Amino acid sequence: MYFPMKFIFLFTLSTFFVPSIALKSDSTNPIPSPWPHQFHATTIMNYTGGLRKVDIWYDWPNKKYLHINQYQLGKTLYDIEWDNGTSFYFTLDSTQECTIRHFPVGILRPNWLEGANYMGQRYKDGFLCNVWEKVDFIQYYEDVVTKIPVYWEFYDGLTEHIMTFEVGKVQEDCNKWQAPAYCFKEIEKGKKPLQENSIPSSWEVHDRRFRGDK
Ligand SMILES: *[C@@H]1O[C@H](CO)[C@@H](O)[C@H](O)[C@H]1NC(C)=O
Ligand SMILES: *[C@@H]1O[C@H](CO)[C@@H](O)[C@H](O)[C@H]1NC(C)=O
Repeated sequence: MYFPMKFIFLFTLSTFFVPSIALKSDSTNPIPSPWPHQFHATTIMNYTGGLRKVDIWYDWPNKKYLHINQYQLGKTLYDIEWDNGTSFYFTLDSTQECTIRHFPVGILRPNWLEGANYMGQRYKDGFLCNVWEKVDFIQYYEDVVTKIPVYWEFYDGLTEHIMTFEVGKVQEDCNKWQAPAYCFKEIEKGKKPLQENSIPSSWEVHDRRFRGDK
C-alpha cells in the first residue's frame, strides 16, 4: 500500500507544480515601455462629451503635464497639471472659464503602467499591438515594433487613439503653461473659484483615473 500512496502523493504534487511552471514562463512576457520623460502626442478621444482632438505635452523632468482639448466644432479647453496635485482647467476665449482642482497625487509617473497584466497581441487601428490591462482601469495598446502607444481604453468607455507621438518634444512656450489671470482673480475676490459646469464631468473622471492609479 505504501508505494502506491507515495505515487499518488507525488502525482498530485506534480499537478500542483504545473501552474507554477506556467507562471514562470509568463515572466518572459513583454512589459509596457515606460513613457518617455518628455513627449508631445496628438490624440483623438471619444467619450460621452463627444469627440475631441487632444494635444498632450508630458514633461516629467519639470513635473508638468498639459492637455489641450479641442472639442469637435466646439470649445478648446486647457488642462495644466502640476505635480503638487493642482490642476487648472480653463478656456482662453471670452467666456473666461476656469476651474481649479486639487488631487491627492501628482502627475503620472513614466512607469505608471508597471505591473499591468499582459493580454497578448491584437490588431488596433491597423497596427499589431501588445496589450496590457490594469484591472478596472485601462487597456493599453502599444505597437509591437516601435513600442509607441497606439490606443488606450478606460473601463468606463473613454477611448483614445494616438495620432502622432514625438519623443523628446517640449512645449517651450511659457505662456502655454500659465493659467490665465482670471483663474486667480476669482480666488482673490473671494468669489467661488469653481465653475462646476465648465468642465464636463467626463473630463475630470478621466483625469482622476489617470492620476489615481499609479
Ligand atoms: C464614439 O463612441 C460612441 C459610443 O461608444 C460610438 O457610438 C461612436 O461611434 C464613437 N465615434 C467614433 C467616431 O468612433
Ligand atoms: C502647485 O503649483 C502650481 C504651479 O507652480 C501653483 O500655481 C499652485 O498654486 C500650486 N498648488 C499648491 C496647492 O501649492
